[in-house]
Amino acid sequence: MSHVFHRHTHAALPVAARGEGVYIIDSNGRRYLDASGGAAVSCLGHSHAGVIAAIKKQLDSIAYAHTSFFTNQPLEELADALIESAPAGLQRVYFVSGGSEAVEAGLKLARQYAVERGESQRRHVIARRQSYHGNTLGALATGGNEWRREQFRPLLIDTHHIAPCYAYRDQRPDETAEAYGLRVADELADKIEELGADSVLAFVAEPVVGATAGAVPPVPGYFRRIREICDEHGVLLMLDEVMCGMGRTGSLYACEQDGIAPDLLTIAKGLGAGYQPIGALLVSEKIFATIRDGSGFFQHGHTYMGHPTACAAALAVQHAIRDEGLLNNVMAMGERLDAALRARIGDHPHVGDIRGRGLFRGVELVADRHTKAPFDPGRKVNAMIKKEAMARGLMCYPMGGTIDGRRGDHVLLAPPFIINAAQVDAVADLLGQTLEAVLL
Ligand SMILES: Cc1ncc(COP(=O)(O)O)c(C=O)c1O
Repeated sequence: MSHVFHRHTHAALPVAARGEGVYIIDSNGRRYLDASGGAAVSCLGHSHAGVIAAIKKQLDSIAYAHTSFFTNQPLEELADALIESAPAGLQRVYFVSGGSEAVEAGLKLARQYAVERGESQRRHVIARRQSYHGNTLGALATGGNEWRREQFRPLLIDTHHIAPCYAYRDQRPDETAEAYGLRVADELADKIEELGADSVLAFVAEPVVGATAGAVPPVPGYFRRIREICDEHGVLLMLDEVMCGMGRTGSLYACEQDGIAPDLLTIAKGLGAGYQPIGALLVSEKIFATIRDGSGFFQHGHTYMGHPTACAAALAVQHAIRDEGLLNNVMAMGERLDAALRARIGDHPHVGDIRGRGLFRGVELVADRHTKAPFDPGRKVNAMIKKEAMARGLMCYPMGGTIDGRRGDHVLLAPPFIINAAQVDAVADLLGQTLEAVLL
């Protein structure tokens, strides 16, 4: 009997024994093609020699040193590397151990920044329905997925949610993509005015929505309008790139493709590529300077922040992305994956939408592709797909509640950046076989 409290208490899980490129191999020797990077984590696959060597080398010098006593070399170098290509204005990096911690740090820093500027009346956080920002209480309160929030609602801080930018469902037939984007972005202005502009701290959004909606990119112009609205009202813009950042969409930072820069930006997942747990909050010079010239102390912190071994791993990941030209491969293989999916499952009667950017792709499943009616949630289509795909040796990331936290199903694909053309084609084919087995 296992003494582990697994997340699903009845699941009989295979034992991951080895990693080999884009494959995970279980203790029975079965190979699984990792088309989701776990949950968009393993961007370098499972056996990257450079990252493994960097971790071993770091362990031979210093494994851990608490950041209230010391800084360390990989921490400093990683911050330099991240800032070198960061969106304009982001100048400082606050390291943590994962995505939820990065979001929590961002929320608290937004609040402390307001307090130190003499704006202690600012307290409201606005985010979007159908977003996911993590599972700790502040991050969960910020996220807009009703199913994830529901039973914990009495413990959650008050937050406010506006519409997502979800063209497949919400763009009107008589509306251009740009007009749709402006319409939904303007919901932020309305919400800020409703709450009182000087009481709002921050707006939080994923540039490309991941876990809860299935790789939903914004329409052109949406985030430029969001940036304008935040600036007009003195509201901080925090972009959550925990899933879509660090090269996943083809640029190191996802928001580059939308032509904007936030005040706060969270990353994790691909930052450590699964070789070490690490996350980070990137902060504008304006915010950093306010704290530096004010209290001089951000009233936050965790035991493992700036962990030397985690930073050494993440630094090696950055070097691999640069030295192996992986962002080019993300773009090329991303296009190929999109084309392969369209060719293999584009005409499937239950495929409603294929979308995404780079190696971050989503397939939305529907009961009827003409009316876009979703499957009955009771059928648990997404769970069946996950099980069937695993039986065929394919790891993908299906999820339900795509539309409103309850209805809708999608499959998220986020394979390693090292994937090749034959493996991309195999992903599309195995997913096609899976959909045929479950849905036809
Ligand atoms: C956009 C986003 N933010 C935050 C998180 C939380 O990250 P973690 O699971 O590392 O706490 C996730 C995880 O899926 C995420 O996708």
